[in-house]
Amino acid sequence: MKNIAVFASHGGSDLQAIIDGCKAGKIPARVCVVISNNSGSRALERAKGEGIPAVHLSANSTAAGSLGDEMLAVLHAHKTDIVFLAGYLKKIPAPVLKTYENRIFNIHPSLLPKYGGRGMFGINVHTAVLAAGDTETGITIHRVTAEYDSGDILAQRKVPVHMGDTPESLAARVLEQEHIFLVEFLEGELQ
Ligand code: GRF
Repeated sequence: MKNIAVFASHGGSDLQAIIDGCKAGKIPARVCVVISNNSGSRALERAKGEGIPAVHLSANSTAAGSLGDEMLAVLHAHKTDIVFLAGYLKKIPAPVLKTYENRIFNIHPSLLPKYGGRGMFGINVHTAVLAAGDTETGITIHRVTAEYDSGDILAQRKVPVHMGDTPESLAARVLEQEHIFLVEFLEGELQ
C-alpha cells in the first residue's frame, strides 16, 4: 500500500476524488498527509474531516529559506511514497523536487502545452480556451519540475467545448472529468 501526500491550495475536490478512490479500493494507496499553503483552505478541512493529517506550510509561515526542509520533514514523517499536486498553486521547493524526483505529479485543466505556465490556473485557463475558439480542451497529468506546468506529460484526456459554454460551465465539465481521470491514472500508476 503506497502513501500519497496531496498538496492543495483551495477547494480540494480533486483531493476528495483521490481520498474516495483510495477508500473504494480503486487506488491501491492511502492519502497519508495533506499539505496546503492556505491555512483557510477547504482542502485542509476535508482532510481533517477524513482523519487525515492536515498541515499548513507556506513561505510566510516558515523561517526564510526553510520551507523545503520543513516540507521534507512532514513528507518523511508520513512515509510519503509519491506526491500529488491537486490544485496547488505554488512552486515546489528544490529540496523536495530533488528527493522526490519523478515521484511528484500535477493535474492541470488543459491539454498542455496549451494554456499552461504562470497565471494559467483556475478560470483563466477556461477563459483562454473559449477566447481562442477551441472546440476541445482537456486534462493533463505530468511530472513536476521547477517550472509551472512543465515536466513530462504522462496522460491526457480530451473534454469537448460546447456551443454557448461559459468559462464556468467549461470549468465544471473539465473538473468533473478530472475526478474520474485522476483515479484511473493513479490506479494504473500504482499497480
Ligand atoms: C483543478 O482544475 C486542477 O486541474 C487544478 O486545480 C483545480 C483544483 O480543483 N490544478 P479543486 O480545488 O481540487 O476543486
